[in-house]
Amino acid sequence: MDYRILPLHAFSDKRGSLVALESCKNVPFEIKRVYYIFDTSPEFDRGGHAHTNLEQLMLCLAGSCEFVLDDGKCKEKVILDSPKVGLYIGKNIWREMKNFSRDCRLVVLASDYYDENEYIRSYEEFLKMIGESNE
Ligand code: TYD
Repeated sequence: MDYRILPLHAFSDKRGSLVALESCKNVPFEIKRVYYIFDTSPEFDRGGHAHTNLEQLMLCLAGSCEFVLDDGKCKEKVILDSPKVGLYIGKNIWREMKNFSRDCRLVVLASDYYDENEYIRSYEEFLKMIGESNE
């Protein structure tokens, strides 16, 4: 499945810690968009979609949340609870995001501008598309 947990080097000293993110260096794509999610609640899930043409790096700067990643064949769970790693998610991966702590601060780096047309928001459609691309 096209996802990876990328360890991020932190410059840490008595003042605190600093992580630098650079396009096509420790971030494996050119960053065109950044968005962030906050004011979350464990009661409400997010995601429930795949992207046909988007790569993303998820960074949990505070709190925690859980990703369930699905390539149409298997599902894997990833818990993000550290600003010292990034979760890279490639194209055509269905993702559910759940169990958000209330203090979760999730920053997302994306390889392209927002385009609702490249979202797949129906799981049936996702399975059909994955099936067709494997033929
Ligand atoms: P949504 O896709 O529901 O978020 P999530 O992936 O966390 O489930 O997006 C919520 C709203 O924000 C929706 O109206 C679309 C809008 N939005 C943008 O306008 N630009 C963006 O870059 C993103 C990610 C979402």
